[in-house]
Amino acid sequence: MSSLIEKAAERLEQLRRAGLDAQPPAPAPQALAAQPQAPAAQPAAPAAAVASPAAWSGSVAPAPVAAPAEPQRPTARVVQLDLAALGAAGFVTPDLPRSTIASQFRVIKRPLLVNAAGRGASVVQSGNLIMVTSAMAGEGKTFNAINLAMSIAMEQDHRVLLVDADVARPSISKVFGLPPGPGLLDLLVDDRIEMADAMLRTNVDKLTVLPSGTPHPRATELLASDAMTALIQEMGRRYPDRIIIFDSPPLLLTTEARVLATHMGQIVVVVQAERTLQTQVKHALTTIEACPVKLMLLNQVRGGDQDAYGYGYGYGQGPAATAPETASL
Ligand SMILES: Nc1ncnc2c1ncn2[C@@H]1O[C@H](COP(=O)(O)OP(=O)(O)OP(=O)(O)O)[C@@H](O)[C@H]1O
Ligand SMILES: [Mg+2]
Repeated sequence: MSSLIEKAAERLEQLRRAGLDAQPPAPAPQALAAQPQAPAAQPAAPAAAVASPAAWSGSVAPAPVAAPAEPQRPTARVVQLDLAALGAAGFVTPDLPRSTIASQFRVIKRPLLVNAAGRGASVVQSGNLIMVTSAMAGEGKTFNAINLAMSIAMEQDHRVLLVDADVARPSISKVFGLPPGPGLLDLLVDDRIEMADAMLRTNVDKLTVLPSGTPHPRATELLASDAMTALIQEMGRRYPDRIIIFDSPPLLLTTEARVLATHMGQIVVVVQAERTLQTQVKHALTTIEACPVKLMLLNQVRGGDQDAYGYGYGYGQGPAATAPETASL
């Protein structure tokens, strides 16, 4: 096992160096360990357009008012995401299917979808439950979770539920400009709230969001609670054909991310180029050993141009992606 981790860490180091030196700047997303269908290189995109989340806005269509006597009735609230602002901020959106970032995510999502559909060499248990995490804070978990969700929702055949499970520092609501309302935490503390009451449909047809909900002093304990286990199982039962993406807390700074990881069929570990240390990557991987499929995604590889701040994805997965019995990356 350790030799695989060593290889992965070495490969990451190579990718990191490639990101520093490369001309053209962004390295090809590529396998860190046995990954036959290594995708082609994508050029870096400027990130100067990344707007402050405060500038993003969304609005909610008035929901039918649920009668108090019928608390179980789904309200099916719909939120209008500001797709133009999201696109300008560098996110994947259905309006810009040919953007660089959209092409990169077409590559990144492919093996995840193959595993989720059970079309890999081995069947991945709960392959539709995908957590996006990282070793430390601020490495791009939310950015990549949103892009993955958006990219998959643009597929003909897939519906996506994006869950803000970073309950201590939620940010999907800020990025999407969602209004305050019930969400994951509310579902965990109040069993009168129905899942459908907390979920928000969006103007991206196949994308539904479960925000983190009303802040709670015991938010992190709740995320690692039996109630969360039961909720994930219920999600799996109710939405077996939906891809469910969890934006999570960092693995090395919290214990609840590791508990969350135990429920996942696939985990994407975001590694920030030029910042995440090899030792942190190795340590983070050891905390999620039990997950059948782990993929590493090298984020924010710098371009050759001094001022460019580009996208770049080194991408890898262990043999576990197609052979869960060797899940040892
Ligand atoms: N590839 C990228 N290109 C451009 N901007 C990016 C990229 N990845 C991340 N960012 C930006 O970097 C900042 C931090 O990213 P993000 O919020 O996704 O990190 P995080 O890991 O979710 O942080 P936290 O641990 O605080 O939740 C955000 O402003 C995000 O938009
Ligand atoms: Mg985040």
